[in-house]
Amino acid sequence: MQQIITYRPAQVSDETAIKALIRAVNINPIGLKWHRFLVAVDENGELIGCGQIKPHWDGSRELASIAVQKAWRRQGIAGAIIEQLFANEQPPIWLTCMDKLIPFYEQFGFVEVMSGDGRSIPLYYRFARTFFKPIQKLSRIPGYLAVMVWPGGH
Ligand SMILES: CC(C)(COP(=O)(O)OP(=O)(O)OC[C@H]1O[C@@H](n2cnc3c(N)ncnc32)[C@H](O)[C@@H]1OP(=O)(O)O)[C@@H](O)C(=O)NCCC(=O)NCCS
Repeated sequence: MQQIITYRPAQVSDETAIKALIRAVNINPIGLKWHRFLVAVDENGELIGCGQIKPHWDGSRELASIAVQKAWRRQGIAGAIIEQLFANEQPPIWLTCMDKLIPFYEQFGFVEVMSGDGRSIPLYYRFARTFFKPIQKLSRIPGYLAVMVWPGGH
Protein backbone atom coordinates (compact mmCIF):
# COMPACT_ATOMS: atom_id res chain seq x y z
CA MET A 1 0.00 0.00 0.00
CA GLN A 2 1.27 3.46 -0.97
CA GLN A 3 2.13 5.53 2.13
CA ILE A 4 1.53 9.27 2.09
CA ILE A 5 4.58 11.27 3.13
CA THR A 6 4.34 15.00 3.75
CA TYR A 7 7.35 17.33 3.58
CA ARG A 8 6.98 20.62 5.46
CA PRO A 9 8.88 23.22 7.49
CA ALA A 10 9.23 22.10 11.11
CA GLN A 11 7.00 23.48 13.84
CA VAL A 12 7.89 23.96 17.49
CA SER A 13 5.92 20.77 18.27
CA ASP A 14 8.44 18.76 16.14
CA GLU A 15 11.40 19.76 18.33
CA THR A 16 11.34 16.76 20.69
CA ALA A 17 10.98 14.24 17.83
CA ILE A 18 13.81 15.90 15.83
CA LYS A 19 16.15 15.72 18.83
CA ALA A 20 15.16 12.09 19.50
CA LEU A 21 15.86 11.08 15.86
CA ILE A 22 19.24 12.85 15.82
CA ARG A 23 20.15 11.10 19.09
CA ALA A 24 18.99 7.72 17.74
CA VAL A 25 21.13 7.94 14.58
CA ASN A 26 24.09 9.28 16.59
CA ILE A 27 25.00 12.35 14.54
CA ASN A 28 26.00 15.87 15.65
CA PRO A 29 23.53 16.90 18.41
CA ILE A 30 24.65 20.57 18.44
CA GLY A 31 22.61 23.33 16.78
CA LEU A 32 19.21 21.68 16.41
CA LYS A 33 17.03 24.83 16.32
CA TRP A 34 13.66 23.54 15.07
CA HIS A 35 12.82 26.60 12.92
CA ARG A 36 15.60 25.77 10.43
CA PHE A 37 14.40 22.20 9.83
CA LEU A 38 12.45 20.60 7.04
CA VAL A 39 10.67 17.44 8.19
CA ALA A 40 9.03 14.43 6.58
CA VAL A 41 6.01 13.05 8.43
CA ASP A 42 3.78 10.04 7.88
CA GLU A 43 -0.01 9.97 7.66
CA ASN A 44 -0.27 10.09 11.48
CA GLY A 45 2.00 13.12 11.69
CA GLU A 46 4.90 11.04 13.10
CA LEU A 47 8.38 12.31 12.20
CA ILE A 48 10.14 9.99 9.74
CA GLY A 49 12.99 12.20 8.55
CA CYS A 50 14.57 15.61 8.87
CA GLY A 51 17.33 17.94 7.69
CA GLN A 52 18.41 21.56 7.99
CA ILE A 53 20.62 24.25 6.51
CA LYS A 54 22.72 25.52 9.41
CA PRO A 55 24.46 28.92 9.21
CA HIS A 56 27.87 29.24 10.89
CA TRP A 57 29.92 32.05 12.43
CA ASP A 58 32.36 32.01 9.49
CA GLY A 59 29.52 32.90 7.08
CA SER A 60 29.24 29.39 5.62
CA ARG A 61 26.03 27.33 5.42
CA GLU A 62 25.96 23.61 6.13
CA LEU A 63 23.59 20.85 5.01
CA ALA A 64 23.19 19.11 8.35
CA SER A 65 21.11 16.76 10.51
CA ILE A 66 19.99 14.61 7.56
CA ALA A 67 18.35 11.59 9.17
CA VAL A 68 15.62 9.09 8.32
CA GLN A 69 14.04 6.52 10.65
CA LYS A 70 15.42 3.02 9.90
CA ALA A 71 12.09 1.57 8.77
CA TRP A 72 11.71 4.33 6.16
CA ARG A 73 15.14 4.21 4.52
CA ARG A 74 15.91 3.57 0.81
CA GLN A 75 12.67 5.15 -0.35
CA GLY A 76 14.13 8.48 -1.45
CA ILE A 77 13.10 10.39 1.69
CA ALA A 78 16.55 11.87 2.47
CA GLY A 79 16.90 12.75 -1.20
CA ALA A 80 13.56 14.57 -1.20
CA ILE A 81 14.49 16.47 1.98
CA ILE A 82 17.81 17.58 0.45
CA GLU A 83 16.18 18.67 -2.84
CA GLN A 84 13.56 20.71 -0.97
CA LEU A 85 16.12 22.32 1.36
CA PHE A 86 18.14 23.30 -1.72
CA ALA A 87 15.15 24.89 -3.44
CA ASN A 88 15.67 28.15 -1.52
CA GLU A 89 19.47 28.10 -1.37
CA GLN A 90 22.35 29.43 -3.44
CA PRO A 91 25.70 27.63 -3.60
CA PRO A 92 28.06 27.01 -1.95
CA ILE A 93 26.60 24.70 0.70
CA TRP A 94 29.06 22.69 2.77
CA LEU A 95 28.76 19.50 4.80
CA THR A 96 30.80 17.01 6.78
CA CYS A 97 30.12 13.28 6.69
CA MET A 98 31.86 9.99 7.31
CA ASP A 99 33.72 8.91 4.16
CA LYS A 100 31.32 5.98 3.53
CA LEU A 101 28.55 8.54 2.77
CA ILE A 102 30.54 10.40 0.08
CA PRO A 103 28.76 8.52 -2.78
CA PHE A 104 25.39 9.32 -1.19
CA TYR A 105 26.05 13.09 -1.25
CA GLU A 106 27.72 12.99 -4.68
CA GLN A 107 24.28 12.15 -6.11
CA PHE A 108 23.14 15.64 -5.11
CA GLY A 109 26.10 17.42 -6.71
CA PHE A 110 28.42 17.56 -3.68
CA VAL A 111 32.15 17.11 -4.27
CA GLU A 112 34.73 16.19 -1.67
CA VAL A 113 37.24 18.93 -0.83
CA MET A 114 40.68 17.88 0.41
CA SER A 115 43.15 20.17 2.17
CA GLY A 116 45.59 21.56 -0.37
CA ASP A 117 43.51 20.92 -3.50
CA GLY A 118 43.20 24.62 -4.23
CA ARG A 119 39.71 25.25 -2.81
CA SER A 120 39.81 26.83 0.62
CA ILE A 121 37.77 25.08 3.29
CA PRO A 122 35.90 27.49 5.61
CA LEU A 123 37.24 27.62 9.15
CA TYR A 124 34.20 25.94 10.73
CA TYR A 125 34.82 22.66 8.86
CA ARG A 126 38.55 22.72 9.57
CA PHE A 127 37.74 23.11 13.28
CA ALA A 128 35.09 20.36 13.03
CA ARG A 129 37.65 17.94 11.59
CA THR A 130 40.21 18.76 14.29
CA PHE A 131 37.58 18.48 17.06
CA PHE A 132 36.27 15.16 15.70
CA LYS A 133 39.67 13.39 15.53
CA PRO A 134 40.06 12.58 19.26
CA ILE A 135 36.35 11.64 19.53
CA GLN A 136 36.78 9.25 16.60
CA LYS A 137 39.89 7.73 18.13
CA LEU A 138 38.22 7.21 21.53
CA SER A 139 35.04 5.78 19.97
CA ARG A 140 37.02 3.72 17.39
CA ILE A 141 34.88 4.99 14.52
CA PRO A 142 36.34 3.68 11.23
CA GLY A 143 37.06 5.92 8.22
CA TYR A 144 37.50 9.70 8.23
CA LEU A 145 35.38 12.85 8.39
CA ALA A 146 35.04 14.16 4.83
CA VAL A 147 34.34 17.80 3.94
CA MET A 148 32.14 18.28 0.87
CA VAL A 149 30.75 21.28 -0.98
CA TRP A 150 27.85 21.83 -3.34
CA PRO A 151 29.27 24.32 -5.83
CA GLY A 152 25.93 24.58 -7.70
CA GLY A 153 24.33 22.37 -10.33
CA HIS A 154 23.74 18.60 -10.22
C1 LIG B 1 22.00 8.42 5.12
C2 LIG B 1 20.47 8.44 5.25
C3 LIG B 1 20.02 9.85 5.68
C4 LIG B 1 19.85 8.08 3.88
O1 LIG B 1 18.44 8.19 3.97
P1 LIG B 1 17.48 7.48 2.90
O2 LIG B 1 16.14 8.11 3.00
O3 LIG B 1 17.56 6.01 3.06
O4 LIG B 1 18.18 7.89 1.53
P2 LIG B 1 17.51 7.87 0.11
O5 LIG B 1 16.49 6.76 0.03
O6 LIG B 1 17.06 9.24 -0.26
O7 LIG B 1 18.78 7.47 -0.77
C5 LIG B 1 18.82 7.69 -2.12
C6 LIG B 1 19.98 6.91 -2.67
O8 LIG B 1 21.16 7.20 -1.92
C7 LIG B 1 21.97 6.02 -1.82
N1 LIG B 1 22.14 5.72 -0.39
C8 LIG B 1 21.20 5.73 0.58
N2 LIG B 1 21.76 5.46 1.78
C9 LIG B 1 23.08 5.27 1.52
C10 LIG B 1 24.18 4.97 2.35
N3 LIG B 1 24.04 4.81 3.69
N4 LIG B 1 25.40 4.85 1.78
C11 LIG B 1 25.56 5.02 0.43
N5 LIG B 1 24.53 5.33 -0.40
C12 LIG B 1 23.32 5.44 0.15
C13 LIG B 1 21.28 4.95 -2.59
O9 LIG B 1 21.80 4.97 -3.91
C14 LIG B 1 19.85 5.40 -2.59
O10 LIG B 1 19.17 4.98 -3.70
P3 LIG B 1 18.67 3.43 -3.79
O11 LIG B 1 17.95 3.12 -2.50
O12 LIG B 1 17.75 3.49 -4.97
O13 LIG B 1 19.89 2.61 -4.00
C15 LIG B 1 19.97 7.39 6.29
O14 LIG B 1 20.57 6.14 6.01
C16 LIG B 1 20.23 7.77 7.73
O15 LIG B 1 19.41 8.40 8.38
N6 LIG B 1 21.42 7.38 8.25
C17 LIG B 1 21.79 7.68 9.63
C18 LIG B 1 22.08 9.16 9.82
C19 LIG B 1 23.22 9.66 8.97
O16 LIG B 1 24.28 9.02 8.86
N7 LIG B 1 23.01 10.85 8.38
C20 LIG B 1 24.00 11.49 7.54
C21 LIG B 1 24.83 12.41 8.38
S1 LIG B 1 26.15 13.11 7.43
